[in-house]
Amino acid sequence: MPESYRQCIACHGEQGEGNTQLKSPALAGQSANYLNRQLLNFTNGLRGRHEKDVLGMQMVAISKQLDLNTEVPQITTFLAALPSPTIEHQVTGDLKNGDRYYQARCGACHGGQAQGNPSMNSPKLSGQSIDYLRRQMINFSTGIRGTHSDDKLGRQMAMMSKTSSGKELEDIFYYISTQK
Ligand code: HEC
Ligand code: HEC
Repeated sequence: MPESYRQCIACHGEQGEGNTQLKSPALAGQSANYLNRQLLNFTNGLRGRHEKDVLGMQMVAISKQLDLNTEVPQITTFLAALPSPTIEHQVTGDLKNGDRYYQARCGACHGGQAQGNPSMNSPKLSGQSIDYLRRQMINFSTGIRGTHSDDKLGRQMAMMSKTSSGKELEDIFYYISTQK
């Protein structure tokens, strides 16, 4: 484990498994490319800037203390190589509909099994807390994340977040929760 990851353990866990109570997402098994971009976005005002984004702001302060050229790549290479955590999901829904909606609206970018797709710069969604995913969808659809003019990928996702809500989105989350 890189020395600079030690300060992250309290919230994201020793194995990058995340912590639901602290609302901290899992980072293990996520693409290094995506993690690098988020840490950069936190420091340059693309994410965690909105006054309602209290949790994002927490990460802004932490990211600013990291050296982007040395510590960030060490941390994200370490995290990407860890196995995706096993999460006890508490969600239910209609799996068949969830699969159908997911494949039609999300799968082209995030992969058929929600495993992520580097060529689309799209993060893995499986192995993630559904509470965290739900919050990000709310953040994208209400302009808390993905509005900055330089945040092209965030703006793309903000547009996509408007394709699904309510029961349909819950079915999509249920489908994601069944993927490893
Ligand atoms: C005090 C708790 C806390 C600490 C310490 C902390 N984080 Fe976070 N981190 C969070 C929370 C909460 C979020 C979710 C923010 C949101 O909801 O937008 C987050 C989000 C992230 C994300 C975005 C993940 C994604 O899927 O988009 C990355 C990357 C990240 N943290 C990396 C780190 C690293 C690396 C460290 C150590 C240098 C660290 N964090 C330390 C609480 C913490
Ligand atoms: C056109 C491609 C595209 C489509 C379609 C798409 N996404 Fe995304 N999504 C992205 C990209 C790119 C990102 C990363 C944005 C960034 O870097 O900030 C993302 C990020 C996310 C995140 C944030 C993950 C995290 O760790 O913080 C969630 C949640 C998400 N997408 C869910 C969905 C869901 C659910 C659907 C279907 C309803 C969907 N996406 C459809 C491209 C897409």
